[in-house]
Amino acid sequence: MGRRQIKCHGDEARFEAVAEYIARRFGGGVTYIADVAGGQGLLSRILCKKYNYQAEVVDPRGYVLKGVPSRKIEYTPELASYYDLIVGLHPDGATRAVAESAVYRPVLLIPCCNEWDQTQKLGSRELVQAIVAYFDGKGIPHETVEFDFKKPKNIGLITGRPPHAGR
Ligand SMILES: C[S@@+](CC[C@H](N)C(=O)[O-])C[C@H]1O[C@@H](n2cnc3c(N)ncnc32)[C@H](O)[C@@H]1O
Repeated sequence: MGRRQIKCHGDEARFEAVAEYIARRFGGGVTYIADVAGGQGLLSRILCKKYNYQAEVVDPRGYVLKGVPSRKIEYTPELASYYDLIVGLHPDGATRAVAESAVYRPVLLIPCCNEWDQTQKLGSRELVQAIVAYFDGKGIPHETVEFDFKKPKNIGLITGRPPHAGR
């Protein structure tokens, strides 16, 4: 039987870029990583195999590649405390749940489409600004990170203070 062909929308470079960033920033300071809305699990696969993290996809779609750990459930902020780091790479309907998790755990959120506030039309930049305003309102420290993959959906927000890194 042949392998399932991997098809993904957007710039495939995002998975490696985000995994490399996590390893550089957090090093051995985190172990359990939630890859929220991880889809097929391409990010989790790199985090586990290349960087030795215990990453798992949390996504109700249940469409992960063989061998990638996953939970076939909708993500809610109440799950955050099971993990050391919450990652939302283009998390669609889980965008708000990932942002709200920053109250409990460090969050890396790279938003894509506006599932944040459907009462307004928000482009990529406005969407990032709206999430920044949310973090500011909660007093959650954060930084903006520009990743080396295709614009404009390459802007991430990382919360918390920089840990001692190097994995
Ligand atoms: C655009 S895909 C992104 C997949 C992957 N992160 C990537 O970059 O290719 C969005 C994913 O969000 C998932 N999703 C939407 N709402 C969710 C929720 N509340 N909890 C977890 N996953 C959710 C969908 O099932 C879908 O797999």
